[in-house]
Amino acid sequence: MLTAYTHFGKNHLHFDVLDSTNTFAQNLIAKSSPMDGTVISAGFQSQGRGQFDRKWLSNPGENLCFSIIVYPHFLQPNQQFYLSMCVATAIARALENEKVGNVKLKWPNDLYIGPLKTGGILIVNQLQGLKWASSVIGIGINVNQTSFDPALPNPTSLAIQTSNVLNLKHLLDNILFQIEQDYNQYLRSADFDHISSAYHKYLLGCEKKSLIPQAMTFGKGYSKV
Ligand code: BTN
Repeated sequence: MLTAYTHFGKNHLHFDVLDSTNTFAQNLIAKSSPMDGTVISAGFQSQGRGQFDRKWLSNPGENLCFSIIVYPHFLQPNQQFYLSMCVATAIARALENEKVGNVKLKWPNDLYIGPLKTGGILIVNQLQGLKWASSVIGIGINVNQTSFDPALPNPTSLAIQTSNVLNLKHLLDNILFQIEQDYNQYLRSADFDHISSAYHKYLLGCEKKSLIPQAMTFGKGYSKV
């Protein structure tokens, strides 16, 4: 039987400036019931958040900064890392579809082109008791930015790597399409073997047998992957 799901991005709120699309999405969930697949995007974030409580810096209007709200009720809280792997792999596939070569993932979910970082994912999961209530999937991709803070160790962008200026809306649509496809096809059906092996195909240093924990949980009722 075919099941119809709401399209990711059907409900899309775009802001020229926000503190952080993740923060906005978390507040939205706290005070309303945004539909599954709601997308929040910003041209510029004044308080962009990265993994490990780092800042996420991104020039105004040059890159993709967005968050997707999902409700993975069909998974257990100890399966959080499968969402992370599924999303990272879907983005890698979408970039390849855009003819970006040498796309890699660095554990846990950095987006790389060869040895250089072009993006990252910050997923914040909300748990209710023992149930997985909702997730905010935050994605930042350096698209058309060509100069970076010298403090960053190894930044790059799609424009630098492809020598092309990319259309942000077109790229966002393609990434959302691929994430939605993989989320529905592999995550909903709990095809964890497929998710894990597809992720490992992109994983930098995988030949050195990186250890992937089944789940990463930080604290009760709230976790970041
Ligand atoms: C990383 O540290 O590599 C993860 C970066 C994630 C950045 C994105 S940009 C959209 C969303 N909003 C945020 O504040 N952070 C994420």
